[in-house]
Amino acid sequence: MATTMRSLECLMKRVCRESRRSYGALPEGSAPSSSQQLINLEHEYSAHNYHPVPVVFSQAKGSSIWDPEGNKYLDFLSAYSAVNQGHCHPEIMKALQEQTERLTLSSRAFFNDRFPIFAERITSMFGYDMVLPMNTGAEGVETALKLARKWGYEKKKIPKDEAIIVSCCGCFHGRTLAVISMSCDNDATRGFGPLLPGHLKVDFGDKASLEKIFKDNGDRIAGFLFEPIQGEAGVIIPPDGYLKAVRDLCTRYNILMIADEIQTGLARTGRMLACDWEEVRPDVVILGKALGGGVIPVSAVLADKDVMLCIRPGEHGSTFGGNPLASAVAIASLDVIRNEGLDERSAKLGLELRHQLVEIQHQFPKYINEVRGRGLFNAVEFNGESLFPVSAYDICLKLKERGILAKPTHDNIVRLTPPLSMSTDELQVASKALHDVLDIDLPKLQKAKPEKVSKADSSVCDRCGRNLYGSS
Ligand SMILES: Cc1ncc(COP(=O)(O)O)c(C=O)c1O
Repeated sequence: MATTMRSLECLMKRVCRESRRSYGALPEGSAPSSSQQLINLEHEYSAHNYHPVPVVFSQAKGSSIWDPEGNKYLDFLSAYSAVNQGHCHPEIMKALQEQTERLTLSSRAFFNDRFPIFAERITSMFGYDMVLPMNTGAEGVETALKLARKWGYEKKKIPKDEAIIVSCCGCFHGRTLAVISMSCDNDATRGFGPLLPGHLKVDFGDKASLEKIFKDNGDRIAGFLFEPIQGEAGVIIPPDGYLKAVRDLCTRYNILMIADEIQTGLARTGRMLACDWEEVRPDVVILGKALGGGVIPVSAVLADKDVMLCIRPGEHGSTFGGNPLASAVAIASLDVIRNEGLDERSAKLGLELRHQLVEIQHQFPKYINEVRGRGLFNAVEFNGESLFPVSAYDICLKLKERGILAKPTHDNIVRLTPPLSMSTDELQVASKALHDVLDIDLPKLQKAKPEKVSKADSSVCDRCGRNLYGSS
């Protein structure tokens, strides 16, 4: 009886869906093509797990994006730093096309003729013995956590099931259960419990607290996972000397130093790795995003043999990790970064962009608290009180109207992370747009928005009760 009812329900749902499709805004059989139609379609049929700026990407080249109506925009997000090389880079597209015609997937049940070349290339480029290939960034982080636990039990002799990973308040490492178990973002954790045990938190940038945690729990700590610059938290740069101190403490307490360079790596901050700013070599490095050249998901965990060989056949893997298509694309992506000197370019352009942004800050000191960044990894932190009832999201909507695509992080921060191939003229266009938003649009927005909008308090951390993101 229950089964019959369920089938009936399914049938009804399908009939309703079909009638919505045929009697909706579009004539039957025609493909939706305008921005608004596509946004509506996504809203109807896709989970609502993002809050996008309402612009539809239809075509892209380098730093430029076009929507279906042919409007042009400049990209100041780079798909969260996955497009460091610029959209549809010709060398990367060529590698993709050539490989697509030959071989795309072997699974690692067999060997293929691309992955070994990629493995040799990436390990020699970053100076590690071995790589473990995965697909998304979160999978890379999961892999590093498993590797650290395994190393902890086998090499450090941590008692069974007692291994601890230490991570930082305000961190962002992805969306899987193990990873959100370390998150301080209530939106990421509420309603998803129980979270994974075996974690301790420490303030980012605070070496005294890190030492205390290591001293108190060092025997059971397998790894310290951190972002060298916290991205989603709002491009938070640790105090000078922090990365060196982390290295020293990890060595002293025999704890793996695990750098999540998924967003900061591959030239984004003006160095190949953000850890290079302090000439520090982590024990484990996680890469992702731009490793796939903005084309396909590719992530990688790098470590030396004494760590990596703790994982044996059958203990970890992924059907698509190390596939020949991903390997060919990743080789081309690394080559482009190296051959085009994107690290130096990012460092130079970053200085220029911050110079322009600081000028704007001087003109609008009431609204801008801080301009910060390394290379082309930058953020403008607004004064939430003066901006209110306008939010960083509203600023991004206005930037979009002026042809600049940026994304807020939290209520009062706008990230500016363009492709590293961007020209100096394009940087200037963005700075001018931000100036005009503050000068022309903001006063109108503040007048138009109802004053009674209540302030969001979701950045007060469930764990410690503090406002981690400094929204003022
Ligand atoms: C530092 C960091 N780690 C991990 C991730 C997760 O990567 P993915 O979205 O590919 O799973 C991100 C994504 O933004 C990130 O910024």
